[in-house]
Amino acid sequence: MSALAALDLARAATLHGEAFAPVGERGWTRQELAELLATPGVAGQLLQAGDRDVGFALHRVVADEAELLTIAVRPALRRRGAGRRLLDAVIAQVREAGARSLFLEVAVDNQAARRLYETTGFQIVGVRAGYYRRSDCGAADGLVMRLTLNDQLPPRRMVTT
Ligand SMILES: CC(C)(COP(=O)(O)OP(=O)(O)OC[C@H]1O[C@@H](n2cnc3c(N)ncnc32)[C@H](O)[C@@H]1OP(=O)(O)O)[C@@H](O)C(=O)NCCC(=O)NCCS
Repeated sequence: MSALAALDLARAATLHGEAFAPVGERGWTRQELAELLATPGVAGQLLQAGDRDVGFALHRVVADEAELLTIAVRPALRRRGAGRRLLDAVIAQVREAGARSLFLEVAVDNQAARRLYETTGFQIVGVRAGYYRRSDCGAADGLVMRLTLNDQLPPRRMVTT
């Protein structure tokens, strides 16, 4: 796992296109990814196996809230733990940056992603009707999900006498 750098953006655009084309959603271009990565608070992770790109994720932290902007794993390399590794890396990074919540949006019919998020502890906190426009089959509702972070009380100090 490594931080997504400007030089990786063409590869990230390829991964994004491959991941989202099957569900009729347009992949983000290299230019769009470059503009996002240049936005304050945005960072990404690239997962590789040897010299093969496996997947990537992008997130944004603003004050104590974070958002998962995208996560994508190459179709032929799914169900081997890559998505969870990327999500865990995002969670560790935003927690480190001081975020108390991580939000995301997911299409209501995206069973794979929903299951990944639910098993990580995300909960549905809102619905956006018709949020995902599809090239082939109309629109799907978007679910807004939230994972609460950093909600434990600080550890109690041991007092010794
Ligand atoms: C969502 C996505 C990133 C998951 O990547 P992945 O590498 O396959 O995920 P993992 O192998 O780490 O799976 C983690 C868990 O997610 C769930 N999951 C993943 N794929 C699933 C599927 N096809 N059906 C049901 N559950 C699934 C399971 O709970 C799985 O744990 P398990 O394998 O122990 O049962 C991948 O499917 C993808 O790139 N999808 C297209 C892009 C996308 O939809 N991104 C999210 C937009 S909000």
